[in-house]
Amino acid sequence: MQVLYRNISQLVTCRGGVRRGRAMADAAVVEDGAFVVENGQIVKVGTRRELEQGYRGESYDCGGALVTPGFVDSHTHLVFAGERSEEFLWRLRGDSYLSIMERGGGIVNTVDATRAASEEELFSQAQKHLANMRKMGVTCAEIKTGYGLDTKAELKQISVIRKLQESEKMKIVGTFMGAHALPRGADADEYIDECIRESLPAAAETGVCEFADIFVEKGAFSAGQAERYLGRAKQLGFALKVHADEMTPSGGTRLGIRLGAKSVDHLLKIRDEDIALLGRSDTVATVLPLTAFCLGEEYAPARKLIEGGAAVAAASDFNPGSCCTYSVPLMIALMCIYMKMSVDEALCALTINGAAACGRDKVLGSIECGKRADFVLFDCKKRECLPYYSGLNLVKSVFIGGEKVHG
Ligand code: NIG
Ligand code: FE
Repeated sequence: MQVLYRNISQLVTCRGGVRRGRAMADAAVVEDGAFVVENGQIVKVGTRRELEQGYRGESYDCGGALVTPGFVDSHTHLVFAGERSEEFLWRLRGDSYLSIMERGGGIVNTVDATRAASEEELFSQAQKHLANMRKMGVTCAEIKTGYGLDTKAELKQISVIRKLQESEKMKIVGTFMGAHALPRGADADEYIDECIRESLPAAAETGVCEFADIFVEKGAFSAGQAERYLGRAKQLGFALKVHADEMTPSGGTRLGIRLGAKSVDHLLKIRDEDIALLGRSDTVATVLPLTAFCLGEEYAPARKLIEGGAAVAAASDFNPGSCCTYSVPLMIALMCIYMKMSVDEALCALTINGAAACGRDKVLGSIECGKRADFVLFDCKKRECLPYYSGLNLVKSVFIGGEKVHG
């Protein structure tokens, strides 16, 4: 059965594939737009006038809403237990993220809590977060492991991700991140050897995670260690992602590009030479504005990345340490107000380019024929309202595969 979605003041389609550089300035908006959904897929897109002509099927009145593609949160760490609000207070008093990690805090605290938690607890917490994200228009989320840091606990996180993939309407993309931090007392080279020997192959065997990721950073893993880990991951069939240049210029971006990573993420401290390399590569530059905000750090140089020709995606990085939020409205406001991205650039970053960062740009991320019908209706008429009503959730309803899942 076909349904015509009509009475849309602005239809932000983001059609035409992943956007690099200046092309991000155009989110392909149709004024007074309309589209037709059949069997969960978009089959026609145009103006209301074009699509209403001769149409006799069912229709859905969008009430003059702004409509966008569903948002893709292409970087989250949302399977974990416990919380680290104490570290947040230390940071407010002036400690840095890295100094907390150096004195034995940080990720390893969440590792203790996550190892102690049952699979059921982890699953129900994760479900709660995904339900909240959906209310803000997220229809596809990537989820990383990395709070297990041994094969058994990493596999427990993978099993939670599998259950989420099986039970959620939202598309869930799994990423193995055994090299998220150094386990307490471990030696970095030996730990990478262990990942190569044990946890990477065990993770590959499950078939749940299509990506492998690593934290290339002072106090975590060096570019050399990452090259060994990612090289093995590639052999095992994983696509690659890298946490790169977050606190220090770590060489992660360069390495990611050289190994053909789908995305390099964070980039707060990226060097100009590496921006130029990114602009000439197919690797997506994923910025995580909420992390910079929560850490009180300078934002990633989004303007330079765009002007350098990169495909910029934006994601939440939700995790209990550096960024305990997944607020899409706040992320949009930060991109527009502080990172100087236009509203269209911010929307491309959160939809089609996020889909590309997850290897999903052929099937979702835009309102375009053949794509899964994931879209969001807002309680406003124009896209500039999204950053203007800073941090307010204007989402009225959310559809995944043509089915209303919220509102
Ligand atoms: O992306 N940088 C490494 N991983 C996370 C932080 C995780 C944590 O602190 O628990 C990030 O910022
Ligand atoms: Fe992260």
